[in-house]
Amino acid sequence: MKGVVLAGGLGTRLMPLTKVTNKHLLPIYDRPMIYYPIQALVNAGIRDIMLVTGGNNAGDFLRLLGNGKEFGLRHLNYTYQEGEGGIADALRLAEHFADGEAICVILGDNIIEGNIAIAAEAFRQQQIGAKILLKEVKDPQRFGVPVLEGERVLKIEEKPAHPRSAYAVTGLYFYDAQVFDIIKTLKPSGRGELEITDVNNAYIAAGTLTWDLLEGWWTDAGTIESLHLANQLVSQTGANKLER
Ligand code: DAU
Repeated sequence: MKGVVLAGGLGTRLMPLTKVTNKHLLPIYDRPMIYYPIQALVNAGIRDIMLVTGGNNAGDFLRLLGNGKEFGLRHLNYTYQEGEGGIADALRLAEHFADGEAICVILGDNIIEGNIAIAAEAFRQQQIGAKILLKEVKDPQRFGVPVLEGERVLKIEEKPAHPRSAYAVTGLYFYDAQVFDIIKTLKPSGRGELEITDVNNAYIAAGTLTWDLLEGWWTDAGTIESLHLANQLVSQTGANKLER
C-alpha cells in the first residue's frame, strides 16, 4: 500500500499565521505539523509516500523533508497542486504515483495519538473499495458526519448544520485504485471544491465502504482553536505513540 499526504490549500482560517508560510509547516509542539501525518503513515508500515502541496512556499517542504531520511525513508515523492480546488482535487494528482495500487490518504493537518496499522492491515485484506475512520467528537458540525443505521453508514454529510450523529469522518482514508475514476466524475461543491465526502459517498453507493473507529485522540489543526488543542495534546501525551 502506498501513502499520500495532502498538504495543499491556503490555510486561510489561520491567517495571519499562514500569510508567509504553509499551514503544514507551522509548529505543533516540537515539530512542524507535516511531521505527524508522515510519521502516522510510516508507523503503519507504509514506506512509499507522496506529498501533495501547493501555494507559495512549496519549496520549503523539500528543504525541510528532503528524501524523508528522518523518517527512515529512502525516498519521498512530491507533487504540486495549482490553486485550492479541494481535497479530492489534490488527491487526483497522486494517480500516476499510485499506479493501480491501494492507497492510504492522510490530510496534512490531521494529528493522531495512536497507530493505524491495524486498519491498514484490514484494508489490505478488504482489497476493494474504501475504508474510513470515525471518531466521536463534541463538534461534528465542523466535519464530514456519517448518517448511521446500526452498523451501516447510509451517507456522509459535509459540515451539516444539524449533525445526524456524534461522529466525525477523520482525514485518514483507504482507497482502491478506482478512487481516481470517481474523482473524474465529481463536480465542485458550493464552496467551489472537489469534496472528499463526495468520493466517500460514491463508495457508499457502490456498497464497498467500510469503517472503523479510530482509537486514541484525534484532532485537525486547521483553525486557531484546533491548532492550540493539537499543541496541548501533543505536549501533554505525545503523538503516534500507541503501539498496537
Ligand atoms: O479533518 C477532517 C475533515 O477534513 C473531514 O471531516 C471533512 O470531511 C473534510 O472535508 C475536511 O474538512 P476541512 O474543511 O477541515 O478540510 P480543509 O479544507 O481544512 O483541508 C484539510 C487538508 O486537506 C489541508 O490541511 C490540506 C488538504 N487540502 C485541502 C484543500 C482544500 C489540499 O491538499 N488541497 C486543497 O485544495
